[in-house]
Amino acid sequence: MGEQVVILGIESSCDDTSAAVIVDGVEMSNVVAGQKVHEAYGGVVPELASRAHQKHIIPVVDQALNQAGVELSQLSAIGYTRGPGLMGSLLVGGSFTNGLSLALKKPVIEVNHMRAHILAHFIQNLEKSRQTPEFPFLCLTVSGGHTQIVLVKDYFEMEVLGETKDDAAGEAFDKVAKLMGLPYPGGPVIDQLAKEGDPDKFRFPVADMPDFEFSFSGLKTNVLYKLQKGSQSDPDFVAKNKAHIAAGVQKAIIKALLQKLERAAKKHGIKDIALAGGVSANSELRESLTELGKKNNWNTFIPPFAYCTDNAAMIGITAYYSFLEKNYDGQYRPPKARMKM
Ligand code: KG4
Ligand code: ZN
Repeated sequence: MGEQVVILGIESSCDDTSAAVIVDGVEMSNVVAGQKVHEAYGGVVPELASRAHQKHIIPVVDQALNQAGVELSQLSAIGYTRGPGLMGSLLVGGSFTNGLSLALKKPVIEVNHMRAHILAHFIQNLEKSRQTPEFPFLCLTVSGGHTQIVLVKDYFEMEVLGETKDDAAGEAFDKVAKLMGLPYPGGPVIDQLAKEGDPDKFRFPVADMPDFEFSFSGLKTNVLYKLQKGSQSDPDFVAKNKAHIAAGVQKAIIKALLQKLERAAKKHGIKDIALAGGVSANSELRESLTELGKKNNWNTFIPPFAYCTDNAAMIGITAYYSFLEKNYDGQYRPPKARMKM
């Protein structure tokens, strides 16, 4: 029997500082420190994000190692998010990784954040073994920065079939929430509000785009006009209708996402369909995809909440597969804010 593969994963691409330990593909710890500082601003403030990462990174890594009962000397490699993300935020995790690897003389494995969201489906847990999708499968990745339908042929062979031309799905949730005076991040708030609302009271059109492309930027303008018009005749319009507006917007976003996903599945004849990224925490999206999956006889893979939003376990599992496939050279490379799949 070979030696155990022990990976420390580090994620700092946006506003969550996270560290995780993955041993032979099994999650031993996954510590995430969020950042409250952005709530008041209606979006992530990059400079505040990098400062908060700096404050969190050492305690978060320390806690991840302690929870896993792993010593630094036992690590096989350290995986870190190289991109895409906010440059200042990426630099904190990247520089920390570089320093640690030099001190320990351990190899570094760079990880693409978008691939990691998808490979989160392969993280195994101690308590319960998880069903994993079979290649090739389709993944709808919906986060604050990205919206893509990806054909996943293998761990490191992924083809983006289509993506958003402007706002991401999560961004659309966040911007609409901001227009309604709701705190950041708006996605979870809209999700909750929508449960009390009538999705058909207000209708919000989403642009139909060619092939597997998306466009969500028109949606927020449409919401803005509806809010302005409603508030002219009734100053309490938003307060009275926020649940209905939330439900209507949510319905429109989900419809656009799932229509394209279904089309892509049919075109490529694929039955294993996965969901990934922060927006996959949305309760209505999870339910609608489950329904759609039943209708189409799909095997649907919907991640547990801990693997929807940014976390280091997904970075760790991606580095683990790079390690197994010897798909790395151990060198540190500075972050890239923009990074292709
Ligand atoms: O993947 P993620 O944590 O970070 C990025 O890489 O962007 O995604 C964050 C996004 C935010 O836009 C947030 O509003 C959205 O995911 N989100 C949700 C929900 N939970 C998080 N959107 C809709 N419904 C939710 N329950
Ligand atoms: Zn993400």
